[in-house]
Amino acid sequence: MSTPPRGKLSLPRLAELKREGTKIVMVTAYDAPGARFAEDAGVDVVLVGDTAAMVVLGYEGTTVPVTMEEMLFLTRTVVRAARRPIVVGDMPFGSYQVSDEAAVENAIRFFKEAGADAVKLEGAGPSLSRVRAIVQAGIPVMGHVGLTPQSATMLGGFKTQGKTAEAAVQLVEDALALEEAGCFAVVLEAVPAPVAAEITARLSVPTIGIGAGPACDGQVLVYHDLLGLTEGHLPRFVKRYASLSREIRDALESYAEEVRSGTFPEEQHSYEMPAEELELFESTIRSPNASRTSAHATKTSSAPERAQAPAPRSEPPVRKTSSP
Ligand code: KIV
Repeated sequence: MSTPPRGKLSLPRLAELKREGTKIVMVTAYDAPGARFAEDAGVDVVLVGDTAAMVVLGYEGTTVPVTMEEMLFLTRTVVRAARRPIVVGDMPFGSYQVSDEAAVENAIRFFKEAGADAVKLEGAGPSLSRVRAIVQAGIPVMGHVGLTPQSATMLGGFKTQGKTAEAAVQLVEDALALEEAGCFAVVLEAVPAPVAAEITARLSVPTIGIGAGPACDGQVLVYHDLLGLTEGHLPRFVKRYASLSREIRDALESYAEEVRSGTFPEEQHSYEMPAEELELFESTIRSPNASRTSAHATKTSSAPERAQAPAPRSEPPVRKTSSP
């Protein structure tokens, strides 16, 4: 395994957080601004989730269609901005189901081409040998049991898992098997709180809950859900910390209204030019002999001299950030 860059939260430190009883904060992100916000908020783990299929790519109610290329593209954008958090690339459906070899090859792409620190895959059972193979290749793996959206059809929809004693025991065994296979953490999704508490007590690696109650070692939520960017039905386990879709809609409506009414742009949003240049420009452009040749060229200089002339003073500044 390669050494993490300076400042990066290490996996041993993540395990220590569990031992200390310090809660682990994880959130999904799908682009550089989201990753930067997460970094600045002190988030520990950023998951480039395959929920991208729904919250970014516009597929309805399924994570299955997102491709490796799309996940790699999104992961690269997150890696550029998230320096301290551990960045986990979510292996999309089809990228690890076929064989251990295919799983290792695709995990290597997340690690090597996209710069992820780790990968996540869903399920236990057949996924256990995939976890072992990827970990043996030197790539850290996060497990995911309970509601595993890639197999939602097999599970009978997006439903809470482990609600019978038998299913709950199976969940405990699956989580233990994932730890044994080498996972550095396990996501528990839509699992009754007492079952998640039991798993958390039995595992030595951290559990990260989403709809799994307060006893988990950490929590994860989908970025768009917690910020109120997702519209329509949300699972019961989501808490909204903002209502950004309302703000965005209001802002876009105001912008459209101001463009149409001519109240935007105002003077402070426009660039000026030196008065004498403006005068020369106007007299040149309005003269009956106006040509495509520049005012300066007709008046004074030859082409090589123009090339050396200083840049006009009122050029728009180079735009380095989104808010100059
Ligand atoms: O893809 C995702 O966002 C996830 C989280 C819900 C854990 O797997």
